[in-house]
Amino acid sequence: MGAGIPLAKGAIVPDDVSRHGMWSSRWLFVLAATGSAVGLGNIWKFPYITGENGGGAFVVVYLLCIAAIGIPIMMAEVMLGRSGRQSPINTMRSLIRESGGHRSWSVIGWMGVLAGVLILSFYAVIAGWAVFYVFRLASGVFEGVDGSQSSALFGEFLSNPWAVLLWQTLFMVATIVIVARGVARGLEVAVRWLMPILLLLLVGLVGYAAVYGDFGQGFAFLFSFDASRLTWDGTLTAMGHAFFTLSLGMGAIMAYGAYMPSQASISTTVVTIGVLDTVVALAAGLAIFPIVFVEGLVPGAGPGLMFETLPVAFGNLPFGAVLGTIFFLLVSFAAITSAISLTEPALAFLVEEYNAKRWRVAISLGAVCWLLGIGTVLSFNVWADAKLFGLTFFDLVDYVSGKIMLPLGGLLIALFAGWVLNRRIADEQLGFEGLRREVWDLVIRFVAPLGVLVVFGYTIYQSFG
Ligand code: PFF
Repeated sequence: MGAGIPLAKGAIVPDDVSRHGMWSSRWLFVLAATGSAVGLGNIWKFPYITGENGGGAFVVVYLLCIAAIGIPIMMAEVMLGRSGRQSPINTMRSLIRESGGHRSWSVIGWMGVLAGVLILSFYAVIAGWAVFYVFRLASGVFEGVDGSQSSALFGEFLSNPWAVLLWQTLFMVATIVIVARGVARGLEVAVRWLMPILLLLLVGLVGYAAVYGDFGQGFAFLFSFDASRLTWDGTLTAMGHAFFTLSLGMGAIMAYGAYMPSQASISTTVVTIGVLDTVVALAAGLAIFPIVFVEGLVPGAGPGLMFETLPVAFGNLPFGAVLGTIFFLLVSFAAITSAISLTEPALAFLVEEYNAKRWRVAISLGAVCWLLGIGTVLSFNVWADAKLFGLTFFDLVDYVSGKIMLPLGGLLIALFAGWVLNRRIADEQLGFEGLRREVWDLVIRFVAPLGVLVVFGYTIYQSFG
């Protein structure tokens, strides 16, 4: 990426590298893609939408979507990216040419760029909350708090648009600085060291929740399947979240795949990433819900859930202020390694198309996302009652990007990879033969696309029928 990713020395044939640079190994690709996948989606969003959608049944649908739709589409994205070796838009253009497909398939790349801008606009706001909480925990205000005090503290912060704007701006500036300088170094350190520590701390929090929280109820809420609690809108939310949490449907993984060494196996790599992502999300759920129940909070509290529950744990633990500070610092890092990947499809494209300097493109893109993000900042205070179709600005951007654009992008990617892409390219990239090849065909041509279509179709039918 820019001069950021060092080209691996020697091993790679010259026409098989990306002009933006290459990951130096398969492992580095796993780290980068995991850095992209693991983020606010796992620790902030998964618990709160699970809470809003009634728990267990929602989790089952989510897991099904990860396995049957997410993993195959991630493989497709990596495969497309690695065979095109350019930004998603230009990768699509050249694969369409090689495969004799219709020009309009390049909409996959364009829609991805737009989705990236929309998502980053609100992502930076929520990440800003996490950055603020680094300092807030360090200050010790949460010492000995209970659930309602913690909720009140969060509400007080959110009601001040200037404070929220300040932290959003800080996060956005940090993201753009990293992206502009080329990310390989920073990213490598971040994912190699910080991700394992984050997971460790999460597991520690699960331990706290098990001892002091109502673990039984939290566990049952997450894992007991009660089909009657599931709605079609919940199903769409679960599917959209499978895309969001794995960074799929908008070309982020395709862009990262373009820098992946040719020898590495796509299937094992992708399964590793999917499993890691899922483990982090479930750990976050197991850390949060037992506290929700013991503190008499409501699981459906919405976007503030993580910020209201976890400080209770930290406020009552020995060394809680230190642990809490570290925890929110790690969440902020997890967010930044995801935010970086949200910019990559647009960035790589603009660099290719206009031969532009990476830092210039990064600043312009950052400015657009920042401006758009102000709408989200205001959604939690000044504009809280300004609604379109019953949704605030934040809800609307989240809905359109997460429940429409990502699944639609993923659907098109599956259809392109399954039906249009030159057979030889798929065989070369995946290395599947015999039964594995047949299963792959079945999944990418039918299972994944039909899965998305059925959920889309039913939801529309339910809303308008
Ligand atoms: N996967 C990230 C998360 O779970 O926080 C969010 C994300 C990153 C979505 C990159 C989409 C994307 F392209």
